[in-house]
Amino acid sequence: MSNYHNTTGKRLLFVCLGNICRSPAAEGVMKALLRQKGEEDEWEIDSAGTGRWHIGDLPDRRMRLHARQRGLELDHRCRQVCTDDFDRFDYIIGMDSQNIADLRELAPSPEAEAKIIPMGRFLDPIKGFDHVPDPYYEGAEGFELVLDLLQDGCQRLYRAVTTEK
Ligand code: 4NP
Repeated sequence: MSNYHNTTGKRLLFVCLGNICRSPAAEGVMKALLRQKGEEDEWEIDSAGTGRWHIGDLPDRRMRLHARQRGLELDHRCRQVCTDDFDRFDYIIGMDSQNIADLRELAPSPEAEAKIIPMGRFLDPIKGFDHVPDPYYEGAEGFELVLDLLQDGCQRLYRAVTTEK
């Protein structure tokens, strides 16, 4: 453990619909970023889905392939988001507006609801997306776009949560 960067690790949960494409990719991107900074041990990073179709599965084969081409190994096992997650994490980051609506419905208290933030807030405005689009029914470009948005967005997210207060 090192306090060299003078940051305090946070607990971040990334959430999408299936927890096999976008949120495990966000988890992998964020962990790689923290590993590069030597801060991995100070943070807790996880992902979950609002749906339950793929519980126990590895991320989608296409997502793993595109991530691997960028040096990221995605080994998360799919799980469904639950009310306990609002205690376990500081921030719960939804990939699109439906994820955000579903999370708000699940939040057990106003304090819990305040932990929910849209990933869209951290996306590069030049890229023209206010959410991370679902690649499940898309081709290779959809998966590449998700990784492009997340690799830039996670850096902005890191800066936002380490510079506040
Ligand atoms: P994700 O993508 O929410 O980014 O994991 C999806 C994965 C699976 C399904 C939908 C979206 N599905 O309908 O099974």
